[in-house]
Amino acid sequence: MADCDGEGAQTPLQLYERLTAQGDQVRALKSAKAEKTEIESAVQLLLKLKVEYKQMTGQDYKAGCPPPENLTVPDNGPSAEGTADEDEVNPWNVTTTNAKGVDYDKLILRFGSSKIDKELVDRIEKVSGQKPHRFLRRGIFFSHRDMHQVLDAYEKHKGFYLYTGRGPSSEAMHVGHLIPFIFTKWLQDVFDIPLVIQLTDDEKYLWKDLSLEECYRFAVENAKDIIACGFDVNKTFIFSDLDYMGSSPQFYRNVVKIQKHVTFNQVKGIFGFTDSDCIGKISFPAIQAAPSFSNSFPHIFGERKDIQCLIPCAIDQDPYFRMTRDVAPRIGYPKPALLHSTFFPALQGAQTKMSASDVNSSIFLTDSPKQIKNKINKHAFSGGKDTVEEHRQFGGNAEVDVSFMYLTFFLEDDEQLEKIRQDYTSGALLTGELKKILIETLQPMIATHQERRKQVTEELVKQFMTPRPLNFNF
Ligand code: TRP
Repeated sequence: MADCDGEGAQTPLQLYERLTAQGDQVRALKSAKAEKTEIESAVQLLLKLKVEYKQMTGQDYKAGCPPPENLTVPDNGPSAEGTADEDEVNPWNVTTTNAKGVDYDKLILRFGSSKIDKELVDRIEKVSGQKPHRFLRRGIFFSHRDMHQVLDAYEKHKGFYLYTGRGPSSEAMHVGHLIPFIFTKWLQDVFDIPLVIQLTDDEKYLWKDLSLEECYRFAVENAKDIIACGFDVNKTFIFSDLDYMGSSPQFYRNVVKIQKHVTFNQVKGIFGFTDSDCIGKISFPAIQAAPSFSNSFPHIFGERKDIQCLIPCAIDQDPYFRMTRDVAPRIGYPKPALLHSTFFPALQGAQTKMSASDVNSSIFLTDSPKQIKNKINKHAFSGGKDTVEEHRQFGGNAEVDVSFMYLTFFLEDDEQLEKIRQDYTSGALLTGELKKILIETLQPMIATHQERRKQVTEELVKQFMTPRPLNFNF
């Protein structure tokens, strides 16, 4: 439904991005000495957008100055006191002042995506013939772009492929990193479709103080954790950018095409790059965009460029794919569809997502049962009361309680989860008891992961990471 198709942009940010693109278009037409009428109509559209922008935001459009995040959209009624006004969500930073976490409904409005509502969840169930994954049942994957279109195509036996990724910034992955992969694995199973996984070792080299060799090594190490999630080697291609970019002429051709159709102005607007960012960062978004197009993988899809791509990712990656969806039609490709997840909260609270650099902010995939227990008992932010007496009398607040939040991610049984919520809220269940349930949920889960990871041989990693045909039937 709503997306950045150009006409009728809905949020100040979208309109701003549209305006930036249109400004560039006008300049391009002028410098290419295009037909006068063509230039005139492009200028007309630019002016119309500027007027719209001024009406929507109360300020003049200025290239390189995106609208302030705390701007209220008049169309959405009086919502100025909302908490998302303080939320910061971009590929490098996620923070909010609200203990319940980011206000995701507001994010949907701001990004111009669509909510995953009950109707869509029911449709996914109908089309796939499977009970929806708990991440869908519980709104952990909460937003999408064009998912109905993907299901339409699937119903007509047209098929689609999945694309997700990870930036390998360290060897240590934590449970939050698994969320997109657990969900992607489920999608692969129920729809029986091919999957590509991009490891952006180049991105981490550009952004962090790491050597190329370190980033590459983290990519291979992370691949093992990803493989341990259970992906089917016959349907999955995992690639390091550092390896694959240089070995695939088709991939690089798409990167260059994208680079030609996105201006510095646009990426400045979308990602906040400044004049002093290195040019590697400025051109990187094209590399994250390229896997959205099927002919980037000729060993899998041959020359076909029309296969629909679906990207499950955390919402902070959306800026990359807004850009991708904006260029796609201009270079003759279908726009990728998206499924967005919420963030996995840090142990200390939902104000921020977990950080791989703070060992106490997360449960790592290498943690022992004892470490898991200690971390949860010591660091998991509690919505319980200070004393047992008070807790029994007034009950706990599950909405801000990190142990409860973690259970919504990992406890499969809906009824059990609801009972825990009720008992905690009423005061019947104490914080220590709640934490114990979480500990007993995570310990076996992590142990199983470690067991599976041990089974992943160098040979198997190599197989996953070798360009080759994959099995699919569409
Ligand atoms: N940039 C992402 C990160 O830092 C990695 C990534 C690349 C990705 N391609 C993706 C994530 C596609 C989700 C979907 O983690």
